[in-house]
Amino acid sequence: MVEKSIRIAICLCFILCHSFSAIAAAPDENAHSKDDAKDNFSMDPDRLHDRIKYNMRKSFDLDDDGCNLQPGKKESIEECGFNATVKTILIIHGWTMSGLFESWMHKLVAAVQRRESEANVVVVDWLRLAHQLYPDAVNHTHRVGQSVATLLDWLQEEEKLQLEDVHMIGYSLGAHVAGYAGTFVNGNIGRITGLDPAGPMFEGTESHKRLSPDDADFVDVLHTYTRGALGVSIGIQEPIGHIDIYPNGGDVQPGCSLGDVLTTAAAGNFVEVMKCEHERAVHLFVDSLMNKDHVSYAFQCTGPDRFKKGICLSCRKNRCNSIGYNSKKMRKRRNSKMYLKTRADTPFGGYHYQMKMHVFDRKNADSDPTFYVKLHGSHNDTNNLSVDIAEGVGLNLTNTFLVFTEDDIGDLLKISLRWEGPSDSWSSVIKHLKSSFWSWSSKRDKKVVEVRRIRVKAGETQKKFTFCAEKTEISPGEDITFVKCRDGWEVKPRKRLHY
Ligand SMILES: *[C@@H]1O[C@H](CO)[C@@H](O)[C@H](O)[C@H]1NC(C)=O
Ligand SMILES: *[C@@H]1O[C@H](CO)[C@@H](O)[C@H](O)[C@H]1NC(C)=O
Ligand SMILES: *[C@@H]1O[C@H](CO)[C@@H](O)[C@H](O)[C@H]1NC(C)=O
Ligand SMILES: *[C@@H]1O[C@H](CO)[C@@H](O)[C@H](O)[C@H]1NC(C)=O
Ligand SMILES: *[C@@H]1O[C@H](CO)[C@@H](O)[C@H](O)[C@H]1NC(C)=O
Ligand SMILES: *[C@@H]1O[C@H](CO)[C@@H](O)[C@H](O)[C@H]1NC(C)=O
Repeated sequence: MVEKSIRIAICLCFILCHSFSAIAAAPDENAHSKDDAKDNFSMDPDRLHDRIKYNMRKSFDLDDDGCNLQPGKKESIEECGFNATVKTILIIHGWTMSGLFESWMHKLVAAVQRRESEANVVVVDWLRLAHQLYPDAVNHTHRVGQSVATLLDWLQEEEKLQLEDVHMIGYSLGAHVAGYAGTFVNGNIGRITGLDPAGPMFEGTESHKRLSPDDADFVDVLHTYTRGALGVSIGIQEPIGHIDIYPNGGDVQPGCSLGDVLTTAAAGNFVEVMKCEHERAVHLFVDSLMNKDHVSYAFQCTGPDRFKKGICLSCRKNRCNSIGYNSKKMRKRRNSKMYLKTRADTPFGGYHYQMKMHVFDRKNADSDPTFYVKLHGSHNDTNNLSVDIAEGVGLNLTNTFLVFTEDDIGDLLKISLRWEGPSDSWSSVIKHLKSSFWSWSSKRDKKVVEVRRIRVKAGETQKKFTFCAEKTEISPGEDITFVKCRDGWEVKPRKRLHY
């Protein structure tokens, strides 16, 4: 854990400290930065527009240059084929070390075009202002946002563009650019999606200095890299939208562990580490555009720990929502934290189950039993999944836990519960060898717990079932099977005489 924090701290410093210009920028690029610092382009809107392009994407061809909308030049509207009666989707990149579009941009643009073939898809290219020291790029978000607002106001005037048809999608610093655009535009933008909005220099600032629910009718945010050091993380931790979705708790993304990505401690690899979790927000969004039929749901919860217990799988009163492009507008909520687990790769969606079981201590079950469950469905079975209870399995208590499966197993038919551990036959053999005289008593040491039923709620279908066992006692190395015995479980259980 300590080592991880140090690595993250180095990674953050890599961004915030001035190592960037030395490592990443080519000499001529350094010259650019110096020019920018000396001249006063920022005060001059024409000079600023030179550095921001509104590139309208029409073809699927990545090499196609597209067409630039030029605020003030009416002919560019027709030239680019901008159609104000359909949706307008603006995609805004973040801080850049290379000064070039990264591969995610092409994936996102292609996915948006495929999903909304009629829409105006515009890439806000502020690469020259983003290819700076991080603090300078942060400083520019304000003016770039202002410039985007100018573009939208111009389109409102010239083409009667309806702002409610505008959806801005901003990644990292681009999310805050979208926030500023929403602040400065004349009217209310329909929707802003923040894809892991940048944290450094935004965390804890006032709402008008970052993306906030005031910037659009609906602001939805995906947080994927909130694990940080010294209170700073690359993605912002605090909720800043109407709904804030934290996939996998917003910190450890499957397939991105430092070990998966980091092989040597070279500078380039820190960037890979950073990118995997930070960029995961973009890939989850792309996934939501492409896999319309496999929607992932997030569930409102006060925190990741409660979510891990499976307590928060409710869809009542809009407490769940589909993630990414398919999210339903929920403007009444602000800063509503939502959680889900995902797979490591596309399609990222899986299946959540809340399980509850009362574990009766029947004999010597002093230590924490290590349980696994295996779900048997009408299409397929899962592997053994560990029963993950933070504080350990409670004896003589009802335990609640979350089970996540990556594959669609169909209708849940059967559950096997396994108690992992050295089976008693072994410990009794050893005891027997040690002292054959006491071999008779070895049976007394056998640990036994009893589980009579498991109550299950499926997050994706909101259905509830009760599963019952015939043989209800279990010892280490054994497993017992539960079969579906009742739909629903919110009926008051009958009072039992013995407990
Ligand atoms: C700043 O820009 C204004 C015009 O926008 C110009 O008159 C002035 O000379 C510039 N100042 C410097 C220091 O370049
Ligand atoms: C704009 O889009 C609408 C709806 O798809 C279409 O009916 C109309 O012809 C388009 N206008 C132009 C100028 O392409
Ligand atoms: C950007 O930097 C300039 C000069 O360093 C400063 O005056 C200005 O307030 C900064 N703007 C923002 C939005 O931080
Ligand atoms: C659980 O309850 C049983 C029977 O009441 C008791 O013998 C046992 O000590 C209890 N176990 C724990 C861990 O509380
Ligand atoms: C069933 O699940 C296993 C993994 O548990 C997987 O390898 C297999 O492809 C699945 N089969 C079907 C038909 O989905
Ligand atoms: C899963 O558990 C079963 C018993 O329920 C056991 O036989 C099997 O070896 C386990 N498989 C794995 C992959 O751990």
